[in-house]
Amino acid sequence: MRLGFFGDVVGRSGRAAVAEHLPRVRAELALDFVIVNGENAAGGFGITESTAQEIFQAGADCITLGNHSWDQPEALTYILREQRLLRPYNYPQTLQIPGRGAQLFTTPAGKRVFVVQIHGSAFMEPLDDPIQGVARALEEAPLRRVADAVIVEIHAEATAEKMTLAHYVDGRATLVVGCHTHIPTADCQVLANGTAYQTDAGMCGDYDSVIGMKKAPIVQRAATRLPSERKSPADGPATLCGVYVESDDNTGLAKSIEPIRIGGRLQETMPVTSR
Ligand SMILES: [Fe+2]
Ligand SMILES: [Fe+2]
Repeated sequence: MRLGFFGDVVGRSGRAAVAEHLPRVRAELALDFVIVNGENAAGGFGITESTAQEIFQAGADCITLGNHSWDQPEALTYILREQRLLRPYNYPQTLQIPGRGAQLFTTPAGKRVFVVQIHGSAFMEPLDDPIQGVARALEEAPLRRVADAVIVEIHAEATAEKMTLAHYVDGRATLVVGCHTHIPTADCQVLANGTAYQTDAGMCGDYDSVIGMKKAPIVQRAATRLPSERKSPADGPATLCGVYVESDDNTGLAKSIEPIRIGGRLQETMPVTSR
């Protein structure tokens, strides 16, 4: 299978980059399944039904959220109606959290893709233990037995926490990919037991910014220690940022992983397979 994962869409300019570039990328790479993180799609904070629709219409099969899932309160009810929208899986099970943290999808070609979002615990408000969470999630739809591909998003701040979780599930997932830091890392690789990995996919946003937000008020606040205008998304051209993974249909494991960066300020890169 040919899979695409794109990091946090930040604000209007991030949505514009997704709308402009994702349809062509999806077609050129003949992607079977596309995941986009949308936790910052609506004004940088959370997601609304209308902003989610823009991302689905551009070619996403699944949208994941994260620590910003509920910044827009309408997401609490929208997620009940929209099976393709996922929030973190590892909320404490005793809480009545709306929506799902994992979902088994079926592609038009009949392939089954299981997507899980795990929320990290280091340097962010922790949920339940990420390792226990991913172990429990993977039992729902084991690779090969139930799912043709398993994709785990580790939504976390700390690189070591992401890499540890990836090695923990190596051989049981097709792809473990991080997001949340909004900065793409240069470490994409297929791990020893066949799971593709990149610590962070990067954001779909304007990189002339502080992780997608207008830079001037943030710099001013840091320099003066005084309040500045509220954070809002930077509005220059955004970079579509993500990873492309090709999996082996027999094993469900990854054959290759390559970065994708298109538009905006970052150096562009497209998978070699598309040339
Ligand atoms: Fe984010
Ligand atoms: Fe996040």
